[in-house]
Parts: sequence; C-alpha cells; structure tokens
Amino acid sequence: MKNNLVITRAKNQFLYDGKRKILDFSLSSGALILGHTNSIFLNSLKRQINKGSNYSNTNINEVKFTKSLKETFHEFNNFIFSNSGSEANMRALRIARSITGKEKFGMVNGSWHGAIDNMMFDFKNTKYLDINKIRSLSSGINYAKKNVILLPYNNIEKSKEILDKNYRKISVIAIEPIQCGVPNKITKDYLIFLNNYCKKKKILLWFDEVITGIRVKKFAIYKQLKLKPDMVTFAKCFGGGMPIGITLFNSKILKNKKKKIFFGGTFSGNPISTKVGLDTFNYIKKYKKRIDKHINDLSNMLVNEINSFCNIHNKEFKLQSYETIVRPIFTSKNINNKFFREKFDPYFKNSLNLKNYLIKKNIFISSNCAFFISYCHNVNDINNLINELKKFILKNCN
Ligand SMILES: Cc1ncc(COP(=O)(O)O)c(C=O)c1O
Repeated sequence: MKNNLVITRAKNQFLYDGKRKILDFSLSSGALILGHTNSIFLNSLKRQINKGSNYSNTNINEVKFTKSLKETFHEFNNFIFSNSGSEANMRALRIARSITGKEKFGMVNGSWHGAIDNMMFDFKNTKYLDINKIRSLSSGINYAKKNVILLPYNNIEKSKEILDKNYRKISVIAIEPIQCGVPNKITKDYLIFLNNYCKKKKILLWFDEVITGIRVKKFAIYKQLKLKPDMVTFAKCFGGGMPIGITLFNSKILKNKKKKIFFGGTFSGNPISTKVGLDTFNYIKKYKKRIDKHINDLSNMLVNEINSFCNIHNKEFKLQSYETIVRPIFTSKNINNKFFREKFDPYFKNSLNLKNYLIKKNIFISSNCAFFISYCHNVNDINNLINELKKFILKNCN
C-alpha cells in the first residue's frame, strides 16, 4: 500500500520520517519483537561487524545458533538456514516432494506463505475450493496451480471430504496454523484434526510458523498444542532484525533413504544474520516469561477495551486476536475464515481506510493491517492506539 511516508530512521517503538515521529505497531511485519535498533541488535552487530559479513562456509555463529535452536525445538535435528520466510518455505516444499516423490500438496485457503510461485493465490474470494476458480496473486505463475489441493481453513468436515478423495496424491499439507488474516483461538480443533489425519494417512504435515515462531507462548503453536508436524518453518523474529529463514525437519522422515536435496544460497546462514538471530533468541529464551507477560497484558488491554467499547456503542467492529497478533474485523461476529472476513470488508477497503486514518494520527500498522504488540510497547502506546481506534469506530462503523 502506498503512503507518503519515507522512513529515515527507527528506534524502539518509533519510526521517523525526518522529524515526524510515528508509533509503530507493525515493527517490520511482526519481526522486531524487541523493537527497532534495540540494544541486543546493536551490540550483536557491533561484535560481528569487524569479523566479516559472509564466508560461504559453515560459520561459528551458525553452529551455535543451531545448537541453541535444537535445545528448544528438540523434536527436530535439521535446521536449514536461508534468508526469508519465503525461502524457508520453498525448501520445505522441495524436501516434502523429494521425500515422497509426489508433486501435489495440500494448502489451506487464506494462508500466506510468502512470495513463492507455488503458493501465491488471491484468496479474496475463498469460498471457492477449486484452484482453477482462484486467481494467482501475480501474472506469470499460473503454471503453479496444477499441484495445489485447497482445503478450507477451520472446516474439518469439508477438509476431510477433500482429503479422503486426494490423500494418495499429496506429499504434504502446509498450514499457517494461526492465520494472521483471521487470528483465532478456535483453530486448535482444526490443527488437531490435520495432525491426526496426516499421521493416519502417512501424509507429511508442515506448520508455517513464520509469524507465530518465538512470538507466541512456548515459542511455537505446535509446542503449545503438543502436535507433531514433520516440518516447521521459521523466519521474522528469529533474525532479530536481520533477514533469516529456517526450515526444520527430523531425519526420521527421510526413512533412511539417501536423497539428494540441494538448496544453494549465497547468503544463507551468513554470520551476521545468525549472530544477531542467536543473541536475540538467547535473550528471549532467558526472559521469555517476562516478555510473554508484558506483551500479552498489553494485547489483552487493547482487545478488551476496544471490544467492550464496541459492545456498549453497538458497533460492527472488533479486534480479533491470537495472543499478540491482533486484527481489526468489521463485524461484531467471530470470524474463523478469511472468506467471512471479506464479506464485511470488501476489497479490504475498510481496513485500508483504518490504516490511512491511523497514519494521519502518526500510528503505523502492518501492510496487511494487523497490529503486532511487542516488548518495546508500553501502556501509553496502547492508550494512544485505543483513543484513536475509538474515534475511528464512532465515525466510520455502523
Ligand atoms: C506465515 C508466513 N509465511 C511466510 C511468510 C513470508 O516470509 P518473508 O516475507 O520473510 O519471505 C510470511 C510473511 O509475512 C508469513 O506471514
């Protein structure tokens, strides 16, 4: 989305356009959970910068980061580094296809898995489950449609029906376990269903935890629900502000077959991203409880205050959230699929209207209009957002 801002610098919870100070609830689309230019990021970069930026070889930071990741995500023993969530996902898909020898994969409608040809669809009208009725998000990638089997998010019955017809052809089911498009607590049942179905039918299951990884309690949704995906992908918060992607899988899924799976990547696992990522991860591990409490308290304060305000004023608006991933919804109903969300926000017009309103008030939210409540935010920031949201709701919502 275009706006007139040109950012010149950023510190903690603020972006600056010259002298203009803007309160940031995007924080690099949820990646900067400790805030901009925080002390971990700065000290970590300072320590690495004189030691070089890339060696095109295994480096000590990568080794240490892998060790630290293994302690937390002990269900996995392969941690493949890349430079973004999209790349981590490209690799996960390649691994799944390589292991199973099957090209087709299951994907849940409304998910965003990054800028990769295979998974970029315009889910504005997600009532369709026939991939041929859904537009690709870009021209030039129509070829990728033929391998996708779409499943409706949070609809167990319909998903089971589609899977029962297709499971033999499917290499893996990819899911963004908590969709940033409709953050929702009730998704738990759907995730348990997919987990059990995949185990029973021997389909690989892959959780794309690019947004949820680190940000949620227990570091990941699969851990919260004690589920067993075969692959997990991470990015965003794991780089501590530097670009990173991580693809996790356990060698067990290779079933002792020696497979050649080649990745490439000049800057993959580079010593700067892995150093900043490692130091940020270790800091968060040490203070996780304190961080979780702070960000969840703020998030609850925001969501409760706005939702009770909307109740009192009988307004068709609410904030829907999963922990600190918060989204404005233009209805008072609970929404569990992007298709229903779009009904109340056609062409995303209402959300973009809100984003523009907030920019005028020097508050910035993500391009997908989600708010990410982070460790750098405080009660004043939340009150500031609450006040502006209330004014917007009174003026613009039915
Ligand atoms: C769930 C999910 N997967 C993948 C991606 C892509 O990550 P990146 O933008 O780092 O390529 C995103 C980005 O927003 C995401 O939210």
